[in-house]
Amino acid sequence: MSIFQIAIDGPSGSGKSTLAKGVSKALGIMYLDTGAMYRTCGLSAIKKGIDPSDVDAVTDMLKSMSLEVKFVDGEQHMILDGEDVNGFIRTPEVSMAASKISALPVIRKAMVDYQREISKSESFVLDGRDIGSNVLPNAKYKFFLTASAETRAERRLLELNGRGDYSQNYEEVLRDIIQRDKQDSERAAAPLVKVDDAVEIDTSKITIEETLNTLLSYVKE
Ligand code: DC
Repeated sequence: MSIFQIAIDGPSGSGKSTLAKGVSKALGIMYLDTGAMYRTCGLSAIKKGIDPSDVDAVTDMLKSMSLEVKFVDGEQHMILDGEDVNGFIRTPEVSMAASKISALPVIRKAMVDYQREISKSESFVLDGRDIGSNVLPNAKYKFFLTASAETRAERRLLELNGRGDYSQNYEEVLRDIIQRDKQDSERAAAPLVKVDDAVEIDTSKITIEETLNTLLSYVKE
C-alpha cells in the first residue's frame, strides 16, 4: 500500500491526541504528536531560564539544543539534550511556555522541517495546529476538531488529575485554555486555522468512540 498522511488539527483539549492514537491503532500507521515537540522546546527554555518569547535568546538556545524524536515500539519519546523528557512536558507551566515559544518562526521552521522529515518515509497520522495548513498541505486526509472551551477545560482537568497533577483548579485550567487559544490563533506564524479541505468535527457532544468512527469512515471511503 502506498504511503499516506492524515492531519488532525484543533485547539488544546479538542481530543486530537486521543483520536490520533485511535486512528494510528485502527489503521496500523505511525503517530506523531507535534505538540510534544513544541512542549520540549518550551521545557528547554524553562530549564535554561530563558523567556520563551525572547527571539534572540531562543535563537541562541536552538543552536545548542539537541531535540530528537525517537519511536520505541511505536511510541514517541522526546529526547532533549540526551534525556528522555516525556514525563516532564505535560505540566501547565510547560503548556504555557510551549504556546509562547511556538509563535516564533525560528522554532516553527526547525520543527516543521523535522516533522516533514519524520513523516515522509511511512504512513503517519500527525496532530497539531498547522498540519493541514502548513506542514503537510497535501495530506490525503485532513480533520479539524473543535469543542467549547468549557468542555476542553473539563477534559484537561481530568487529564491533569489523572496524572496526579492538582496544581490547577477548573477556573485556572479554563483561563489557560482561553489564553492559549488566543495566542495560538492570533500569532502571525502558521496560526491555528481550519483549511477549506479539512473535515470539521465538533467533539463537544459526541464521545471519543463516536468521533473516531466518524473519522475512520472518511478514511475508509
Ligand atoms: O497540542 P499541544 O497542547 O500539546 O500543543 C502545545 C503547544 O504547541 C500549543 O500551545 C500550540 C503549539 N503547537 C503548534 O503551534 N503547532 C503544532 N503543530 C502543535 C502545537
